[in-house]
Amino acid sequence: MTLVGIIGGSGLTALKNLEITRREVMRTPYGEPSAPLIRGRIGGQDAVFLPRHGHGHTIPPHAVNYRANIWALKETGATHVIGVNAVGAITSTLAAGSLVFPDQIIDYTYGREHTFFGNDQKPVTHTDFTYPYCDALRRVLIETARAAGLEAAEQATYAATQGPRFETIAEINRLERDGAHIVGMTGMPEAGLARELALCYASVAVIANPAAGRAVGIISLTEIERTLDAGMEKVRMLLEQAIPRLG
Ligand code: HPA
Repeated sequence: MTLVGIIGGSGLTALKNLEITRREVMRTPYGEPSAPLIRGRIGGQDAVFLPRHGHGHTIPPHAVNYRANIWALKETGATHVIGVNAVGAITSTLAAGSLVFPDQIIDYTYGREHTFFGNDQKPVTHTDFTYPYCDALRRVLIETARAAGLEAAEQATYAATQGPRFETIAEINRLERDGAHIVGMTGMPEAGLARELALCYASVAVIANPAAGRAVGIISLTEIERTLDAGMEKVRMLLEQAIPRLG
């Protein structure tokens, strides 16, 4: 049976179109997830929602318990996970408020608990991550966005930075030289942990702002919030139509 988990990011702390059936307070060997899991139905299909930064958006990107979140979703029976990520655009053609389905990721984060296969694991376990996102899930998201007429980039490399500060212009230039198109603070270790537990994981990224130095002036939080409000409406619409297709 298919059960889709949705990890909401900045701008998506609740899913208005989820008909809630119950809340599940979970404990995991790694501690507590960011919030109780919200079980329900979306477009007639079972789904489970978890706000990555907590219900009140109080947990910064570097302090999210990614292991507990992914473990809890697996434990509750999720087979698929859609991570929603607010990002900055490095590539100038990516417009604020538009959607991106990344197909590659570069991890620049540090000091985060990033694996379920720690020192106590014998024999040593390595996980394939050649294609970091689940292709079957990406296809459904891309086809749904196309059918709904939503503007979306269907390929991009996501640079995962540590935060919580935004980047310098020099850092963004370096990420661009590395081949990244978008930058965010929450893509890793989430995607890697999902792979370790064999969850079919994909990301829906929402362009919140031009990255540092890619527009005149500095990055404005007010501007980001306004852009995300509109962008997340698109995400809700996308999820409502994509999730039943996975059932
Ligand atoms: N950089 C990193 N993370 C982000 C950004 C950004 O410009 N915008 C939204 N999340």
